[in-house]
Amino acid sequence: EKAGYKHFMAKEIAEQPVVLGDALAHYLPGDTVNLPETLDFSGLERLTLVACGTAFYACSVAKYWFETLAGLPCEIDVASEFRYREPPIPAKSFALFVSQSGETADTLAALRYCREKVAKTVAVVNVATSSIAREADVALPILAGVEVGVASTKAFTCQLLVLATLALKAGRDRGHLSAEAFAAHVAGLRSLPGLMNAALAGDGPVAALAERLAEAQDILFLGRGPMFPLALEGALKLKEISYIHAEGYASGELKHGPIALIDRSVPVIVLAPHDRLFDKTVSNMQEVMARHGQVLLISDAKGLAAAAEGVWATLKMPEVPEPFAPILYALPAQLLAYHTAVAKGTDVDQPRNLAKSVTVE
Ligand code: F6R
Repeated sequence: EKAGYKHFMAKEIAEQPVVLGDALAHYLPGDTVNLPETLDFSGLERLTLVACGTAFYACSVAKYWFETLAGLPCEIDVASEFRYREPPIPAKSFALFVSQSGETADTLAALRYCREKVAKTVAVVNVATSSIAREADVALPILAGVEVGVASTKAFTCQLLVLATLALKAGRDRGHLSAEAFAAHVAGLRSLPGLMNAALAGDGPVAALAERLAEAQDILFLGRGPMFPLALEGALKLKEISYIHAEGYASGELKHGPIALIDRSVPVIVLAPHDRLFDKTVSNMQEVMARHGQVLLISDAKGLAAAAEGVWATLKMPEVPEPFAPILYALPAQLLAYHTAVAKGTDVDQPRNLAKSVTVE
């Protein structure tokens, strides 16, 4: 049940420090990762990641991790495109399918397409008894617990945790990550539940900002590096439950077209932890401000100290180990969507036209 929350979505957002902690205890119990020995990434030429919707955005974040932490070339695609384009796939590859329900028709068809072609199929699922879990060579549960709200929240962050753990294993298997770097990243992942608690503590300011967002016609989300797919996820979440038109863009892509949309009426949400790409993102943010866009800057203390001048609003996040920032910044993205939908009075848990599990093509 809703355990005192107004909506399942609010409960599921709030549960994330706990369920992420459960997934951490399972996959990173001691000094090594708890993943099947047979999942050996060492000789692979490629990893293919396929999913739909929010699960696809989790794959899109993970691509950055597999490439930077493990030096493993990745291909990502949405299942409805992947399955019909007859993609050539090297035999020395794994194909990974991410699905909360484990029943999404296009993702299941993509898995069947890969089965005879790759060394191994891997399912990252919430429902351990699902079709996708049963048909894959290896099934890894994300341990998020039942997700009722149609808009996926805790499943997304738990998917990211399992994918990060896989990327760390791949980094060790392939000799790309030193033991020290591996240990530092494990410590980084272990810090996330605590950071999430801190990020959830101040959700009052988010509700106040949402009152304003609820009046907008269009909202843009910007991010760079692994924060780019998170910008896409933030926009999807907002569209789904508040019915406000929203788009996510790679910060550097703005000047190639979308900047034409900016005027005083357009809120632009910038997801920018103080990382090595921060200055680049800030210069894109300033291009928005020069066109009178209303910037909401989400960053940490260092980032806000460096760049908050002249923005419409800010949200302060704890500092987070660089590669894993998308896991933490998912929370303000979810909360902004949630409070905006509440401000508009839409049906948060059962948005119009959407189903929790999409078993038709
Ligand atoms: C968005 C959302 C959908 C699902 C997509 C895939 O909040 O929930 O985009 O992520 O339909 O569903 P699964 O993960 O069950 O395959």
